Amino acid sequence: MHLHKYEKIWLIFGVSSLILFLTILGVSAFAMGHHPPSHMHTVDPQNLNNDPMFSNPGLEQIDDTTYRATIIGQAFGYSPSVIEVPVGSTVEFHVTSADVVHSFTIPGTNVNFMLTPGHVNMSVHTFHEPGEYLVICNEYCGTGHHHMQMRIEVTP
Ligand code: CUA
Repeated sequence: MHLHKYEKIWLIFGVSSLILFLTILGVSAFAMGHHPPSHMHTVDPQNLNNDPMFSNPGLEQIDDTTYRATIIGQAFGYSPSVIEVPVGSTVEFHVTSADVVHSFTIPGTNVNFMLTPGHVNMSVHTFHEPGEYLVICNEYCGTGHHHMQMRIEVTP
């Protein structure tokens, strides 16, 4: 196949633009998807009972569609073990560990982060589909690791 000179130039220009565009897209997606976990707020994992944020873990409504869920992970479960929000809700998860490293993972979503004792680990997710979402631990944490889970009920 023989391409006319100008066709070649336009082809190269087109391909270069596409590559440039994809690079920009990739770089910005990478940057957005890799927010460092919030390590600004530290807590004493030995003393969560007296922590203003974690002494009473659970769900708090912030506005019409936004909730803050404060959750403690420990061998081998989460506290609370169930939370319930209406469909369409955006939930800010603020999670810490009372003992060792765990994870807070909701399969099928982008929520998947490590729970490190002493830190408040965060993620945000909007639940667009009603149903029961399982939260599981993805970091091996001991004999009960495979049973470590909680539920998020998203009501229609
Ligand atoms: Cu907690 Cu594995």
